[in-house]
Amino acid sequence: MKNKKRILITGVSGLLGSNLAFCLKDHYDIVGLYHSRRINLRGVLSRQVDMRSLPQMAAILREFNPHVVIHCAAQANVDLCEIDSQGAQEMNVVATANLVKSLENFETQLIHISTDLVYDGSKGLYSESDKVYPVNYYGVTKLESEKEALKKEGALVLRTNFFGWGILPRRSLAQWLIEELKAGRDVQGFTDVIFSSLYTFDLADLISKMMSRNLSGIYNCGSANAISKYEFLLQLAKKTGLKAEQIHAGFVDQFPLKAKRAKNLSMNVTKLAKDLAVRLPTSEESLDHFVADLGKDYPSSWQEEFFDK
Ligand SMILES: NC(=O)c1ccc[n+]([C@@H]2O[C@H](COP(=O)([O-])OP(=O)(O)OC[C@H]3O[C@@H](n4cnc5c(N)ncnc54)[C@H](OP(=O)(O)O)[C@@H]3O)[C@@H](O)[C@H]2O)c1
Repeated sequence: MKNKKRILITGVSGLLGSNLAFCLKDHYDIVGLYHSRRINLRGVLSRQVDMRSLPQMAAILREFNPHVVIHCAAQANVDLCEIDSQGAQEMNVVATANLVKSLENFETQLIHISTDLVYDGSKGLYSESDKVYPVNYYGVTKLESEKEALKKEGALVLRTNFFGWGILPRRSLAQWLIEELKAGRDVQGFTDVIFSSLYTFDLADLISKMMSRNLSGIYNCGSANAISKYEFLLQLAKKTGLKAEQIHAGFVDQFPLKAKRAKNLSMNVTKLAKDLAVRLPTSEESLDHFVADLGKDYPSSWQEEFFDK
Protein backbone atom coordinates (compact mmCIF):
# COMPACT_ATOMS: atom_id res chain seq x y z
CA MET A 1 0.00 0.00 0.00
CA LYS A 2 1.25 3.53 -0.79
CA ASN A 3 2.42 5.60 2.13
CA LYS A 4 0.98 9.09 1.67
CA LYS A 5 4.22 10.83 2.65
CA ARG A 6 5.18 13.25 -0.16
CA ILE A 7 8.91 13.33 -0.88
CA LEU A 8 10.57 15.93 -3.03
CA ILE A 9 13.90 14.78 -4.48
CA THR A 10 16.20 17.46 -5.87
CA GLY A 11 18.63 16.31 -8.58
CA VAL A 12 16.29 13.53 -9.73
CA SER A 13 18.11 13.42 -13.08
CA GLY A 14 21.40 12.70 -11.31
CA LEU A 15 22.88 9.37 -10.27
CA LEU A 16 21.70 9.29 -6.67
CA GLY A 17 18.43 11.22 -7.16
CA SER A 18 17.27 8.93 -9.97
CA ASN A 19 18.19 5.78 -8.04
CA LEU A 20 16.36 7.01 -4.92
CA ALA A 21 13.28 7.95 -6.95
CA PHE A 22 13.26 4.49 -8.51
CA CYS A 23 13.54 2.73 -5.15
CA LEU A 24 11.07 4.91 -3.23
CA LYS A 25 8.36 5.53 -5.83
CA ASP A 26 6.24 2.51 -4.95
CA HIS A 27 6.08 3.47 -1.28
CA TYR A 28 5.80 7.28 -1.34
CA ASP A 29 4.47 10.08 -3.55
CA ILE A 30 7.57 11.40 -5.28
CA VAL A 31 8.15 14.79 -6.90
CA GLY A 32 11.51 14.97 -8.66
CA LEU A 33 13.30 18.19 -9.61
CA TYR A 34 15.69 18.28 -12.56
CA HIS A 35 17.53 21.18 -14.16
CA SER A 36 18.82 20.51 -17.70
CA ARG A 37 18.06 16.80 -18.28
CA ARG A 38 14.33 16.21 -18.44
CA ILE A 39 13.48 12.80 -17.10
CA ASN A 40 10.35 10.74 -17.19
CA LEU A 41 9.94 7.96 -14.65
CA ARG A 42 6.59 6.22 -14.32
CA GLY A 43 5.02 7.10 -10.98
CA VAL A 44 7.21 10.18 -10.41
CA LEU A 45 6.02 13.73 -11.02
CA SER A 46 8.96 15.71 -12.39
CA ARG A 47 9.52 19.47 -12.58
CA GLN A 48 12.23 21.68 -14.00
CA VAL A 49 13.90 24.18 -11.67
CA ASP A 50 17.07 26.21 -11.37
CA MET A 51 17.82 25.91 -7.67
CA ARG A 52 20.13 28.92 -7.85
CA SER A 53 16.96 31.01 -8.13
CA LEU A 54 15.25 31.63 -4.79
CA PRO A 55 11.89 32.62 -6.34
CA GLN A 56 11.80 29.43 -8.44
CA MET A 57 12.66 27.28 -5.45
CA ALA A 58 10.12 28.98 -3.20
CA ALA A 59 7.35 28.55 -5.79
CA ILE A 60 8.02 24.81 -6.07
CA LEU A 61 7.91 24.37 -2.29
CA ARG A 62 4.64 26.34 -2.04
CA GLU A 63 3.15 24.19 -4.78
CA PHE A 64 4.07 20.78 -3.33
CA ASN A 65 4.49 21.38 0.43
CA PRO A 66 6.40 18.08 0.83
CA HIS A 67 6.75 16.10 4.07
CA VAL A 68 10.38 15.36 3.23
CA VAL A 69 12.98 16.90 0.91
CA ILE A 70 15.98 14.75 -0.09
CA HIS A 71 18.50 17.23 -1.44
CA CYS A 72 20.72 15.43 -3.97
CA ALA A 73 21.25 18.25 -6.50
CA ALA A 74 24.82 19.55 -6.56
CA GLN A 75 27.83 20.24 -8.69
CA ALA A 76 29.30 16.83 -7.88
CA ASN A 77 32.14 16.87 -10.41
CA VAL A 78 35.18 17.31 -8.17
CA ASP A 79 37.53 18.54 -10.92
CA LEU A 80 34.96 20.93 -12.38
CA CYS A 81 34.49 22.52 -8.93
CA GLU A 82 38.23 23.27 -8.89
CA ILE A 83 38.07 24.92 -12.35
CA ASP A 84 34.79 26.79 -11.83
CA SER A 85 34.79 27.75 -8.17
CA GLN A 86 31.99 30.29 -8.60
CA GLY A 87 29.74 27.72 -10.25
CA ALA A 88 30.48 25.27 -7.44
CA GLN A 89 29.68 27.91 -4.84
CA GLU A 90 26.38 28.79 -6.53
CA MET A 91 25.21 25.22 -6.96
CA ASN A 92 26.44 23.68 -3.73
CA VAL A 93 26.06 26.56 -1.28
CA VAL A 94 23.65 29.16 -2.69
CA ALA A 95 21.18 26.53 -3.99
CA THR A 96 21.14 24.81 -0.57
CA ALA A 97 20.62 28.17 1.15
CA ASN A 98 17.73 28.88 -1.25
CA LEU A 99 16.17 25.54 -0.40
CA VAL A 100 16.44 26.19 3.35
CA LYS A 101 15.01 29.73 3.01
CA SER A 102 12.12 28.33 0.97
CA LEU A 103 11.41 25.80 3.73
CA GLU A 104 11.30 28.47 6.45
CA ASN A 105 7.61 28.18 7.20
CA PHE A 106 7.25 24.46 6.49
CA GLU A 107 7.54 21.54 8.87
CA THR A 108 9.31 19.61 6.14
CA GLN A 109 12.06 17.17 7.11
CA LEU A 110 15.26 18.04 5.21
CA ILE A 111 17.70 15.28 4.29
CA HIS A 112 20.85 16.79 2.89
CA ILE A 113 23.27 14.62 0.91
CA SER A 114 26.86 15.50 1.75
CA THR A 115 30.08 13.64 1.09
CA ASP A 116 32.97 11.78 2.72
CA LEU A 117 35.18 14.45 1.08
CA VAL A 118 34.59 16.85 3.97
CA TYR A 119 37.29 14.76 5.72
CA ASP A 120 40.92 15.27 4.73
CA GLY A 121 41.74 11.56 4.29
CA SER A 122 44.90 11.65 6.39
CA LYS A 123 43.87 9.15 9.07
CA GLY A 124 40.73 7.26 8.01
CA LEU A 125 37.96 5.70 10.10
CA TYR A 126 36.42 9.12 10.58
CA SER A 127 33.60 9.56 13.03
CA GLU A 128 31.16 12.47 12.88
CA SER A 129 32.92 14.34 15.69
CA ASP A 130 36.29 14.27 13.89
CA LYS A 131 37.74 17.49 12.51
CA VAL A 132 36.61 18.30 8.98
CA TYR A 133 39.19 19.71 6.64
CA PRO A 134 38.39 19.32 2.91
CA VAL A 135 41.38 19.06 0.57
CA ASN A 136 39.60 20.41 -2.52
CA TYR A 137 37.09 23.09 -3.43
CA TYR A 138 34.25 20.59 -3.94
CA GLY A 139 34.72 19.48 -0.32
CA VAL A 140 34.87 23.10 0.85
CA THR A 141 31.54 23.92 -0.81
CA LYS A 142 29.91 20.71 0.44
CA LEU A 143 31.00 21.54 3.98
CA GLU A 144 29.48 25.01 3.53
CA SER A 145 26.31 23.39 2.23
CA GLU A 146 26.08 21.24 5.39
CA LYS A 147 26.14 24.44 7.47
CA GLU A 148 23.34 25.91 5.32
CA ALA A 149 21.28 22.71 5.60
CA LEU A 150 21.66 22.56 9.39
CA LYS A 151 19.97 25.99 9.65
CA LYS A 152 16.75 24.06 9.03
CA GLU A 153 15.52 22.70 12.34
CA GLY A 154 15.72 18.91 12.48
CA ALA A 155 17.80 18.62 9.30
CA LEU A 156 19.63 15.36 8.65
CA VAL A 157 23.04 15.52 6.94
CA LEU A 158 24.47 12.35 5.39
CA ARG A 159 28.18 12.10 4.67
CA THR A 160 28.19 9.36 2.11
CA ASN A 161 29.75 7.69 -0.90
CA PHE A 162 27.89 5.46 -3.34
CA PHE A 163 27.78 3.58 -6.64
CA GLY A 164 24.75 2.61 -8.69
CA TRP A 165 23.07 3.29 -12.01
CA GLY A 166 23.78 6.55 -13.81
CA ILE A 167 21.48 7.76 -16.55
CA LEU A 168 23.78 7.69 -19.57
CA PRO A 169 26.18 9.33 -20.27
CA ARG A 170 26.62 9.56 -16.47
CA ARG A 171 28.16 6.32 -15.16
CA SER A 172 29.15 5.24 -11.68
CA LEU A 173 32.58 3.74 -10.95
CA ALA A 174 31.04 0.24 -11.06
CA GLN A 175 29.39 0.78 -14.45
CA TRP A 176 32.58 2.31 -15.84
CA LEU A 177 34.62 -0.73 -14.83
CA ILE A 178 32.22 -3.21 -16.40
CA GLU A 179 32.19 -1.30 -19.68
CA GLU A 180 35.98 -0.96 -19.79
CA LEU A 181 36.61 -4.64 -19.05
CA LYS A 182 33.99 -5.79 -21.54
CA ALA A 183 35.63 -3.60 -24.19
CA GLY A 184 38.95 -5.37 -23.44
CA ARG A 185 40.63 -2.24 -22.07
CA ASP A 186 43.07 -2.26 -19.14
CA VAL A 187 42.30 0.02 -16.19
CA GLN A 188 44.15 1.36 -13.15
CA GLY A 189 42.73 1.04 -9.64
CA PHE A 190 44.03 3.21 -6.80
CA THR A 191 45.50 1.17 -3.97
CA ASP A 192 45.99 4.32 -1.88
CA VAL A 193 42.38 5.60 -1.98
CA ILE A 194 40.18 3.90 0.60
CA PHE A 195 36.44 4.46 0.85
CA SER A 196 33.23 3.11 2.40
CA SER A 197 30.97 3.09 -0.63
CA LEU A 198 27.35 1.85 -0.60
CA TYR A 199 25.16 0.60 -3.42
CA THR A 200 22.52 3.29 -4.01
CA PHE A 201 19.68 0.80 -3.43
CA ASP A 202 21.14 -0.03 0.01
CA LEU A 203 21.40 3.71 0.64
CA ALA A 204 17.72 4.14 -0.37
CA ASP A 205 16.73 1.49 2.15
CA LEU A 206 18.71 3.22 4.90
CA ILE A 207 17.25 6.64 4.02
CA SER A 208 13.77 5.18 4.21
CA LYS A 209 14.53 3.88 7.73
CA MET A 210 16.06 7.24 8.75
CA MET A 211 12.91 9.03 7.57
CA SER A 212 10.72 6.74 9.66
CA ARG A 213 12.87 7.33 12.73
CA ASN A 214 13.07 11.09 12.14
CA LEU A 215 16.84 11.15 12.61
CA SER A 216 18.51 14.56 12.64
CA GLY A 217 22.04 15.93 12.78
CA ILE A 218 25.15 14.65 11.02
CA TYR A 219 25.66 10.96 10.19
CA ASN A 220 28.31 9.04 8.30
CA CYS A 221 26.41 6.80 5.92
CA GLY A 222 28.67 4.29 4.17
CA SER A 223 29.47 0.59 4.13
CA ALA A 224 30.31 -1.14 7.43
CA ASN A 225 33.92 -1.66 6.30
CA ALA A 226 36.24 0.14 3.89
CA ILE A 227 38.31 -1.09 0.96
CA SER A 228 40.66 0.52 -1.57
CA LYS A 229 39.36 1.49 -4.99
CA TYR A 230 41.69 -1.16 -6.43
CA GLU A 231 40.16 -3.85 -4.21
CA PHE A 232 36.66 -2.59 -5.09
CA LEU A 233 37.37 -3.01 -8.82
CA LEU A 234 38.95 -6.44 -8.32
CA GLN A 235 36.00 -7.70 -6.30
CA LEU A 236 33.52 -6.39 -8.84
CA ALA A 237 35.40 -8.03 -11.72
CA LYS A 238 35.44 -11.37 -9.89
CA LYS A 239 31.77 -11.16 -8.94
CA THR A 240 30.78 -10.39 -12.54
CA GLY A 241 33.05 -13.01 -14.12
CA LEU A 242 35.11 -10.36 -15.92
CA LYS A 243 38.89 -10.43 -16.28
CA ALA A 244 40.55 -9.12 -13.10
CA GLU A 245 43.95 -9.31 -14.91
CA GLN A 246 42.95 -6.15 -16.81
CA ILE A 247 42.97 -4.21 -13.54
CA HIS A 248 46.36 -2.82 -12.52
CA ALA A 249 47.38 -1.33 -9.20
CA GLY A 250 48.12 2.40 -9.32
CA PHE A 251 48.41 5.46 -7.10
CA VAL A 252 46.13 8.46 -7.33
CA ASP A 253 49.01 10.97 -7.40
CA GLN A 254 50.24 9.43 -10.67
CA PHE A 255 47.17 10.88 -12.40
CA PRO A 256 47.04 14.50 -13.53
CA LEU A 257 43.76 15.47 -11.85
CA LYS A 258 42.69 19.10 -11.39
CA ALA A 259 41.56 18.67 -7.79
CA LYS A 260 43.56 17.13 -4.99
CA ARG A 261 42.13 13.78 -3.79
CA ALA A 262 41.86 12.71 -0.18
CA LYS A 263 43.25 9.21 0.38
CA ASN A 264 41.84 7.39 3.36
CA LEU A 265 38.16 8.32 3.50
CA SER A 266 37.01 5.28 5.45
CA MET A 267 34.16 6.16 7.78
CA ASN A 268 33.10 4.88 11.16
CA VAL A 269 29.36 4.22 10.76
CA THR A 270 28.56 2.90 14.24
CA LYS A 271 26.42 5.95 15.13
CA LEU A 272 24.03 5.24 12.27
CA ALA A 273 23.97 1.48 12.88
CA LYS A 274 23.18 2.06 16.57
CA ASP A 275 20.47 4.68 16.01
CA LEU A 276 18.75 2.59 13.34
CA ALA A 277 19.39 -0.65 15.21
CA VAL A 278 20.58 -2.29 11.99
CA ARG A 279 23.76 -3.84 10.67
CA LEU A 280 24.99 -1.76 7.72
CA PRO A 281 26.01 -3.71 4.59
CA THR A 282 29.71 -4.35 4.07
CA SER A 283 31.22 -3.17 0.78
CA GLU A 284 31.24 -6.84 -0.36
CA GLU A 285 27.51 -7.17 0.41
CA SER A 286 26.73 -3.89 -1.33
CA LEU A 287 28.65 -5.12 -4.39
CA ASP A 288 26.70 -8.41 -4.24
CA HIS A 289 23.40 -6.48 -4.27
CA PHE A 290 24.56 -4.43 -7.26
CA VAL A 291 25.68 -7.55 -9.14
CA ALA A 292 22.37 -9.29 -8.37
CA ASP A 293 20.54 -6.41 -10.05
CA LEU A 294 23.01 -6.51 -12.94
CA GLY A 295 22.17 -10.20 -13.30
CA LYS A 296 18.51 -9.25 -13.74
CA ASP A 297 19.53 -7.16 -16.74
CA TYR A 298 18.46 -4.25 -14.61
CA PRO A 299 20.34 -1.38 -16.34
CA SER A 300 18.64 -1.74 -19.71
CA SER A 301 15.15 -1.54 -18.20
CA TRP A 302 16.42 1.32 -16.03
CA GLN A 303 17.52 3.38 -19.04
CA GLU A 304 14.33 2.69 -20.94
CA GLU A 305 12.17 3.72 -18.06
CA PHE A 306 14.03 6.96 -17.48
CA PHE A 307 14.31 8.34 -20.96
CA ASP A 308 11.81 11.03 -21.74
CA LYS A 309 9.39 9.68 -24.34
N1 LIG B 1 28.86 10.80 -7.05
C1 LIG B 1 29.49 10.47 -5.94
O1 LIG B 1 30.32 9.55 -5.95
C2 LIG B 1 29.20 11.20 -4.66
C3 LIG B 1 29.90 10.80 -3.51
C4 LIG B 1 29.57 11.41 -2.30
C5 LIG B 1 28.58 12.38 -2.24
N2 LIG B 1 27.95 12.78 -3.38
C6 LIG B 1 26.87 13.78 -3.27
O2 LIG B 1 25.67 13.11 -3.62
C7 LIG B 1 24.77 14.02 -4.27
C8 LIG B 1 24.32 13.44 -5.60
O3 LIG B 1 25.45 13.25 -6.44
P1 LIG B 1 25.31 12.61 -7.90
O4 LIG B 1 26.60 11.97 -8.21
O5 LIG B 1 24.05 11.85 -7.98
O6 LIG B 1 25.21 13.93 -8.78
P2 LIG B 1 24.98 14.07 -10.37
O7 LIG B 1 24.72 12.74 -10.97
O8 LIG B 1 26.10 14.89 -10.90
O9 LIG B 1 23.63 14.92 -10.44
C9 LIG B 1 23.58 16.28 -10.07
C10 LIG B 1 22.13 16.72 -10.09
O10 LIG B 1 22.07 18.12 -9.74
C11 LIG B 1 21.18 18.76 -10.63
N3 LIG B 1 21.48 20.18 -10.80
C12 LIG B 1 22.65 20.72 -11.25
N4 LIG B 1 22.53 22.06 -11.34
C13 LIG B 1 21.27 22.36 -10.93
C14 LIG B 1 20.55 23.58 -10.80
N5 LIG B 1 21.09 24.78 -11.11
N6 LIG B 1 19.27 23.53 -10.36
C15 LIG B 1 18.69 22.34 -10.04
N7 LIG B 1 19.33 21.15 -10.15
C16 LIG B 1 20.61 21.16 -10.58
C17 LIG B 1 21.39 18.03 -11.95
O11 LIG B 1 20.29 18.29 -12.82
P3 LIG B 1 20.42 18.19 -14.45
O12 LIG B 1 21.28 16.99 -14.72
O13 LIG B 1 18.99 18.00 -14.89
O14 LIG B 1 21.02 19.45 -14.93
C18 LIG B 1 21.46 16.58 -11.46
O15 LIG B 1 20.16 16.04 -11.31
C19 LIG B 1 25.52 15.34 -4.37
O16 LIG B 1 25.16 16.16 -3.29
C20 LIG B 1 26.98 14.94 -4.24
O17 LIG B 1 27.74 16.01 -3.70
C21 LIG B 1 28.25 12.21 -4.58
